Amino acid sequence: MTTTTTTVSPERQSEVSSFAAMVATMAAIGGGLFGYDTGVISGAILYIKKDFPIEAATEGLIVSAVTVGALTAAMIAGVLADRSGRRLTNIAAGVIFATASLLCVVASSVPTLIAGRFLVGCGIGLTSVGAPMYIAEVSPARVRGTFVSLFQLAVTVGILLAYVVCAMLAPAAAWRWMLGLAAVPGLVLAIGMTFMPESPRWLVKQRRLEDARSVLGKINPHSNPDETLAHIEHDLALEGQGTWGELLQRSLRPALLVGIGLAAFQQVTGINAVIYYAPQIFQAAGFASNVTALAATAGIGVINVLATFIAIWLVDREGRKPLLVAGVTGMVATLVVLGLAFQGGVAGTGTGSLGYITVMCLAGYIISFAFSLGPIVWLMISEIYPLRNRAQAMAVSTASNWGANFLVSTTFPIVALRLGAAAVCFIYAGLGVLTLIFVIAKVPETKGKTLEEISKIWR
Ligand code: BGC
Repeated sequence: MTTTTTTVSPERQSEVSSFAAMVATMAAIGGGLFGYDTGVISGAILYIKKDFPIEAATEGLIVSAVTVGALTAAMIAGVLADRSGRRLTNIAAGVIFATASLLCVVASSVPTLIAGRFLVGCGIGLTSVGAPMYIAEVSPARVRGTFVSLFQLAVTVGILLAYVVCAMLAPAAAWRWMLGLAAVPGLVLAIGMTFMPESPRWLVKQRRLEDARSVLGKINPHSNPDETLAHIEHDLALEGQGTWGELLQRSLRPALLVGIGLAAFQQVTGINAVIYYAPQIFQAAGFASNVTALAATAGIGVINVLATFIAIWLVDREGRKPLLVAGVTGMVATLVVLGLAFQGGVAGTGTGSLGYITVMCLAGYIISFAFSLGPIVWLMISEIYPLRNRAQAMAVSTASNWGANFLVSTTFPIVALRLGAAAVCFIYAGLGVLTLIFVIAKVPETKGKTLEEISKIWR
């Protein structure tokens, strides 16, 4: 099977991509909200605690409500994206982000605040299924990796913006503004998505062939939409009915194993121990003052954004697997060095040269994550499943990501306290080695293939 862009000249190809790039960028705004809303709570909670006298358990609920909401809504997204469409799933995410952020602004009681944060989480769950899937389905094969990586880029920008906004609003203790500002991009996402086309692949699934043909024509005006349509229809005809029950079928197992495995490994290798707890880690490493620890954390945020461009640049040239292997190797190496540094007790003795080992290792770890597991997991879970089962299978994979996220972010402080920082590094490094073996043994290369060609890998 050939891709539909093979006979198009380079100039026309870049013309072709600009419409799809605009569509991808619009959906990626959801990633920005995902990043912002997960990052903002670490700053906001300090001031929420001043306005509402709460116990540690309630504090934990306010912080983790987002993750629980994301996990729940990821499963709902599996139904919504199939029944009502990819576009509507992203519109719904925008509407929920906007209303839930406003609910947090006006919350006059802790239960309302928890409800608001849970709903924000629902927006994140919808976008983390809906956006990568939508982008993957509208993108030409040869740039799909770059376009879906825009989603991860937006996540990292959102995290960085959250750090900046929290730092700026901290003197005013304005936690309601910190949480409420997300309403603006939420609204932009909801309104912007109404102007975007529906995914042509979903339209084919609904037998709306004329609509699908017209969208394909817009996305890729110089290719033959009938040819692409025929490939999509052929692929659909070969698969089952697209029910949840089919996820248990033997034929889907290898793909599900890769998707669920990658999604969980992205989390259990410790990324959010760093993203959520960076200031504490820096303090444990000897950066005593809050200001230095926060500056180092902001540095991590900037590096996270910048290193994502490595993936945007290379993912469609070198492929997914080489980047995954290189990145996870880098994560393991930096974790081992950091573990050894903490084990020697040296990193905690002051801001001398050994304190900087922590900075160097965490920077190296974040760079390695940002060009590998960060973007490529969202990319691969949106492209490896056959169209029939894509929405459900992606929902299950995303739920596994949020489940593992919940596990890591809630256990990290306890494990670090009981076993020590060195042991935590070694545990994540060990899981990194398992990730590496998994990637090498199980993950297929999908670079340059159309979604319909990828689904053939599993037959
Ligand atoms: C992960 C998030 C993480 C973020 C960091 C995303 O790909 O899913 O859990 O916080 O990357 O950049």
